[in-house]
Amino acid sequence: MSGGAVELLEQIAHIGVDTERGGYTRPVFSAPELALRAWFIEQADRRGLDIDVDGNGIIWAWWDAPDTRRVDAIATGSHLDSVPGGGNFDGPLGIASALAAVDVLRERGVRPARPLVIAAFPEEEGSRFGIACLGTRLLAGLIDPQRVRELRDDGGVSFAEAARDAGLDPALIGPDPVRLAALAAFVELHVEQGRGLEDLGQPVALAGAIIAHGRWHVRIEGRGDHAGATRMADRQDPVVVAAETVRALRAHALVVDDARGTVGRIKVTPGGTNVIAASVDLWMDVRHRDEAAVRRIVDEVTAATERTATAEGCTIVVAEQSFSPTVAFDAALRERMLAVLPDAPVLDTGAGHDAGVLAGAIPTGMLFVRNPTGASHTPAEAARPEDVAAGVTALADVLESLLTR
Ligand code: GLV
Ligand code: MN
Ligand code: MN
Ligand code: MN
Repeated sequence: MSGGAVELLEQIAHIGVDTERGGYTRPVFSAPELALRAWFIEQADRRGLDIDVDGNGIIWAWWDAPDTRRVDAIATGSHLDSVPGGGNFDGPLGIASALAAVDVLRERGVRPARPLVIAAFPEEEGSRFGIACLGTRLLAGLIDPQRVRELRDDGGVSFAEAARDAGLDPALIGPDPVRLAALAAFVELHVEQGRGLEDLGQPVALAGAIIAHGRWHVRIEGRGDHAGATRMADRQDPVVVAAETVRALRAHALVVDDARGTVGRIKVTPGGTNVIAASVDLWMDVRHRDEAAVRRIVDEVTAATERTATAEGCTIVVAEQSFSPTVAFDAALRERMLAVLPDAPVLDTGAGHDAGVLAGAIPTGMLFVRNPTGASHTPAEAARPEDVAAGVTALADVLESLLTR
């Protein structure tokens, strides 16, 4: 039955297909993500799990243990939202594997001594409202709920409005220390987002650490004008300044060993071929094991952008959207996981996860499933059926050990 996760993923393979970009576009609280949430609830319900949606829109599906209350629980799960044009594994693999692992545990006749809960976290990618892992940041009290209510998507819809449309009460968004205190540990299974396992020839790994990462919004204002009638010397062109941000980020990230700097989203306003732009918004994603190195790169890129902006007669504002320090996952939990998965290598990752946020509050670990392309956040992301099955077995082994103590 451990092939069950492949079947579960097939059930959702038609949801949120992006015919323009390829892959899947499933932003939080959009029609496709809501369809995935409904699918998860239905699958959990079929398994007799008890559903509970909290004020932050996190869906919790409880497998209660006989004669126990909902405390000291083992949590697993992941997210259902995607980046624009992403794969079908980043997020849903962790949800499908959790459901399949419950089936495996029941087939094994495991009698849990404590509750198991599967969680589906909203807005892990931050692709609609800009801040990744928003559900877990809210849960853990790491972000001001009012700031979150006021976040707006590209269409001007606020988080509060989107949450209300999704059937939530935006007044209930915020820290939930009681719910968090009910969790003894969290284990997230995720497709690997690099080639580590492929290179090692192994199907499943444990996570060691997540490197520090942050996002910065750069707003550049210039003066819109006519592309033909305006002499080159008379321009205040924010696109020229944006080009310097992109160039400087590449240059500064290149000279710091193993740093990552990306501009993956640029909005030019008004955006006409024959129009000198009035403004540009762009977003920088910067990552490195050493938090100070991330800060240094951002400072250097900001300074370079400021110099070009001054020369061009433009103004810039750089605002930090989110910052996540380096996370070392719980060593004792990893030892425990290694005891049941002795062959699994331990890999660090440059990708962020809700597990990284929760690691600040409770013992947390991760399992990675081999990705033969090594690619992620693209339709090329992949996982072989036999590796998905190996991931489910590994997750079931870990959960069995934790549930039966
Ligand atoms: C989320 O997938 C991230 O690491 O950006
Ligand atoms: Mn993910
Ligand atoms: Mn992702
Ligand atoms: Mn992620």
